[in-house]
Amino acid sequence: MKTRMVNNIEVSAVGMGCMAFSHGYGKIPEEAYSIEAIQNAYAHGCTFFDTAEVYSPNLASVGHNERIVGKALKDVRENVVIGTKLMLRSVGVGSVYKRIRSHLEGSLERLRTDYVDIYYLHRMSAIPVEKVADAMGRLIDEGLIRGWGLSQVDVDVIDRAQQVTPLAAVQNIYSMVERDSETRIIPYCVENNIGFVPFSPIASGLLSGMITPETRFEKNDDVRNWVPQLSGKNIAGNQPIVEMLKGFAEEKNATPAQISLAWMLHKYPNVVPIPGSKNKGRIIENLDAAKVTLTYEQLAALEASLNSLRVYGHRGLGGF
Ligand SMILES: NC(=O)c1ccc[n+]([C@@H]2O[C@H](COP(=O)([O-])OP(=O)(O)OC[C@H]3O[C@@H](n4cnc5c(N)ncnc54)[C@H](OP(=O)(O)O)[C@@H]3O)[C@@H](O)[C@H]2O)c1
Repeated sequence: MKTRMVNNIEVSAVGMGCMAFSHGYGKIPEEAYSIEAIQNAYAHGCTFFDTAEVYSPNLASVGHNERIVGKALKDVRENVVIGTKLMLRSVGVGSVYKRIRSHLEGSLERLRTDYVDIYYLHRMSAIPVEKVADAMGRLIDEGLIRGWGLSQVDVDVIDRAQQVTPLAAVQNIYSMVERDSETRIIPYCVENNIGFVPFSPIASGLLSGMITPETRFEKNDDVRNWVPQLSGKNIAGNQPIVEMLKGFAEEKNATPAQISLAWMLHKYPNVVPIPGSKNKGRIIENLDAAKVTLTYEQLAALEASLNSLRVYGHRGLGGF
């Protein structure tokens, strides 16, 4: 597969979000299935895997997902790039460095590795980002992480962090229907050689064209029940975007999900999406988005169509 640079770390042009094997999209698969799905993705050329310490069923424990990722990739560890994230609460005991290091040690053990490639702060808390950046710099110096990142942050926080310890990556929500990061954040990242890693790049499934107003999501541990674009009314409102994508997909002999990923790959050199799926076939489909080539005219036409259509529902960078 084609590769890209996330700062100075080389990764496949499309990565893999592993969250749904543990949390967020209803019933989780058997562990053996998840492990095989991750290994299949690697065999297909994927070298960039995303997890987080909090990804566990109902977010009720820690490490379920990291354990799966660790088991799946233990034999090919040096060939892959693993991103994981820590959640730091505002109030805590000990220095920020010691607290982060203790979270990291848990992740290293679960991931069966002695270093993490990209270690993200999952969400900002009241702890000043400068303190986190300083601690991350120490962990880089110690060889425990190769680079660090922030998630769901705006450009002011990114810039403050960047002044202390330069970032490898920013992981924000970004898709055809969540474009806040286009205004200032992605340009800042391009300018400062920071990788931009879009999460929920298929808008939690909306942009695959497989979700209709009649689709019912699962009752337990399914984020789609509150993703703004996926309320019954907004799924209907967003159908023109889905139909437009289907048209492009047909023309390109690709799928709507692939077009939505190819769009962002063509727009920016530093973007590496991490689509999530708990289905082996769809994981490969998403990785193959890296093979879809859009001409300048096709990209411009896609962009113009998109700009002409209203998006129903907005999650943005704030809150959850
Ligand atoms: N930093 C953060 O705060 C944060 C937050 C959320 C997620 N993430 C990361 O980002 C990754 C991806 O985000 P996400 O999973 O929320 O959203 P996503 O990739 O936009 O969408 C996942 C949903 O789309 C469906 N889907 C995926 N590919 C499809 C295809 N080709 N055709 C049809 N349906 C398809 C999946 O269903 P199936 O499983 O049935 O295929 C699943 O329901 C996560 O795994 C996680 O690693 C990070």
